[in-house]
This record gives sequence, structure tokens and C-alpha cells, in this order.
Amino acid sequence: MTKLDQIRAAESRLLLQTYERNPILFVGGEGVHIVDENGAKYLDLLSGIGVNALGYGHPAIQEAIARQSRALVHTSNLFYHEGQAELALRLTERTGLDRVFFANTGTEAWEGALKLARAHAGLLRSEGKQIGTKFLALEQSFHGRTFGSVSTTYKAKYREPFGPVVPGVEFVKFNDIADLRAKFSSEVCAILVEAIQGEGGIRPLTQEFFAEARALATSTGALLIVDEIQAGMGRTGKWCAYQHYGIPGAPADRSTSVGWILPDVTTLAKPIAGGIPLGAILCTEEVSRAFHAGMHGTTFGGGPLACAVAIAVIDTIDKENLLAHATEVGDYFQAQLRSLAKRHEAIIDVRGKGLMIAAELDSADLAKLTVAEMLKRHIVINCTSDTVLRFLPPYILQRQHVDTAIAALDEIFTEHAVYASQQSAGGHNRG
Ligand SMILES: Cc1ncc(COP(=O)(O)O)c(C=O)c1O
Repeated sequence: MTKLDQIRAAESRLLLQTYERNPILFVGGEGVHIVDENGAKYLDLLSGIGVNALGYGHPAIQEAIARQSRALVHTSNLFYHEGQAELALRLTERTGLDRVFFANTGTEAWEGALKLARAHAGLLRSEGKQIGTKFLALEQSFHGRTFGSVSTTYKAKYREPFGPVVPGVEFVKFNDIADLRAKFSSEVCAILVEAIQGEGGIRPLTQEFFAEARALATSTGALLIVDEIQAGMGRTGKWCAYQHYGIPGAPADRSTSVGWILPDVTTLAKPIAGGIPLGAILCTEEVSRAFHAGMHGTTFGGGPLACAVAIAVIDTIDKENLLAHATEVGDYFQAQLRSLAKRHEAIIDVRGKGLMIAAELDSADLAKLTVAEMLKRHIVINCTSDTVLRFLPPYILQRQHVDTAIAALDEIFTEHAVYASQQSAGGHNRG
């Protein structure tokens, strides 16, 4: 029995069976490659699920973990440590928002953001404003697995087994301004969006829809909350994906918060600490009034180790100029996928920003097959929304890695097309 077989047998007896794992045992990694128990290297175009921004074994992360583990790994939020303010300064400078609460994961940050919105609406009501408690979320949204998060997540499979979910959530058709206007009222305390939907298939909001959501929220004091857990922290070539959206009528300069549509609240997680669990809620000064001591908290969130690594990740992204790099390599990746699409009809759309990229196929079976065939060729990708191949590689990806992936995809689609035409020829012959 191999070590993998032993682990599989033990897990099947001991763990809740919530994951359908691929039968590979990963033990290490270097750069953009993750290494299995036999020493085989896999090109990782998924980076966890959008987590390992600096790839594997980056010296900045190793050094931060080693240094901080010698100094202090944990202290509760009853006391101060050196990391939170330093990290919060970096995050507020880069997002245009004013204050931060640190959590551990994406879903926990999102839960906190929902609580903040309800508390903020309560504060406004106490100040005489008319505002309700309803959330407007978007169709195809994904916000995580805890109760508030599944309640604001669109797909029934994530919500229905756990009903009744949190009440007061209505879903708006994606990018449908008329539907947004029809469902918005003073009953709404927050509009919830991902600037680029991740799990929903790498789908960006339109400029018009996002601007309308901002305007409607502002008109009543409701909050615009943008979930940047997958798209944020540099993945799209900007610190947050909302920074791609200009304020209507404002100068084209999007280098500061004066130039882009600013949410009232955003949430970050996944790549923020390069693989160490950490999440964050960021909000404006106005919104921060809603939380006072004792209203929200966490044992682990914003611990010294996670903060030290997150600081190292941000400083490395700056030092290695990885935002510009993600844009450049991401554009190259999309261009290569587009030229592949010209040769293979199975690719019906290519979209994304920076290193958050999708190639949509014309069939769910082919998408599943492609992920499996890529894995056989030692390349890790995944499939979301049934037909969408999703690429969330580390920000250190180089053009040569893109070329490797494109060559593999070309081979897979060619083989599939040959197979499909043989099948249909066989069918004709039989017919
Ligand atoms: C947009 C978005 N929000 C929230 C989450 C939940 O994050 P986590 O899995 O860290 O709880 C995810 C995870 O995929 C996500 O993509």
C-alpha cells in the first residue's frame, strides 16, 4: 500500500466526506510548481484556490514565518501586538478605505461585513433615518459557507440543505440594472457584489451596473459591499478589482480613491497572507461608527503570525512589481487563450482581468475532461460553473508557464475534436 493509499483509507474512515479529492499527495513546492510524494512537479495555475499569490517556498514568506514564530505566534485580541496596525496601514492605503477588522477566513470576513451592515442600518435608524434590514445579493454570487454567507450565495445547492437560511436576502439578476432598480428600496441596508464574480464563472460587473449600485446605495444610506476575497489583493493587477471601475464623469486617473468607485465595505482573504489563514473587513470611517467594543470579535483573527506574513506578502508584491506583472502576464495569457479559441470551437469565451482568467467551453463534460487531462499532464486548473475553466495562478507566473499550459490545452482540444469527429463519423456509418 502506498502512503497515498494509506492516507485515503484513513481519511475515508475519519473525515467528514465533504471533498472529492484528486488522488495526489502533495508534499512540497517551489515557485509556481507544487511537488507530489514522488517528486513530480505540477504547474499550479490555481494556487490553492487563489491563495498562494507568491507561489511556493517564497523566501519572503519563509523568512516572515521563521522570524515571527521565534518572536510571538499568538496573543489574544485583549492585548496589542506589532502587526495589526502596520498591516491595517498598508491595506487602508491600498484600498481607499479607512478602518480594518481582521478575521481568519473569507467567509468569516463576509459574515462580519453583513453584521456591520445591519448594525450600521440600526445606527442610522437610531439617528432618525428610514432604512431597513434587507440585503440585495446577485445571482451567481458566492460568498462562503457559513450561514450569512450561504444565505447571500445564489446557488441553491449551497443553501437549501441547510434551510431555513438567514432571512431578508433577495437576489438581483446579474448586471441587470432594471432588476436592481426594481428591487432596491429604503428597506435595503446593503447591496452585495463581487466586482468580478469568481465561483460564478469569472464574470465582471459592467461599469454601468456597478455605478448604479453605488448611486442607489448612496441615495438612501445603504452600503455597497464588495467581496474581494477572490479578486482582491493584486490578483487582477490592482489591489482591488473595484479599482478597475471609474467614477462616471471623473477624470480617467484611477490611481487614487478619487478616481474609482469606492465601496463602503470590502472583504479580503485568500491571498492576503500568502497561504496563512487571514481575512479582513475594510470600511469607511462613517461605517466604522456602527461597531463598538464587544460587538464583534475573534480569538485568532489578526494574530501576529498571519499579520507578519501578510505584511511580507504586500511588501513583496510592491518590491517585485507584481501588480504590473500580473497585468502583463495575464494579458498575454488571455491573448494566447483567444488565439487558441480561434483554432478550437469548443472555447466559446475568454475573459478576466490580470491573473483571474476564464476560458468558457461549450460543454460541461469537456470542461471536466480538460481539467483531468491537464492534471495528467501535471498542470493544475479547475472548473467552475460547470463549463468554465478557471485560472488563478500565482502572481509570479511567467510567459513560459503560459506557453506550457496553452500547448497542453491545444493538445487536449485537438485530441477531443478528433475523437468527437470519429464518434460522429462512426455514428453516420452506423446510421
Ligand atoms: C468571492 C468569495 N467570497 C468568499 C469566499 C469564502 O472564502 P473562504 O473559503 O476563505 O471562507 C470565497 C471562496 O472561494 C470567494 O471566492
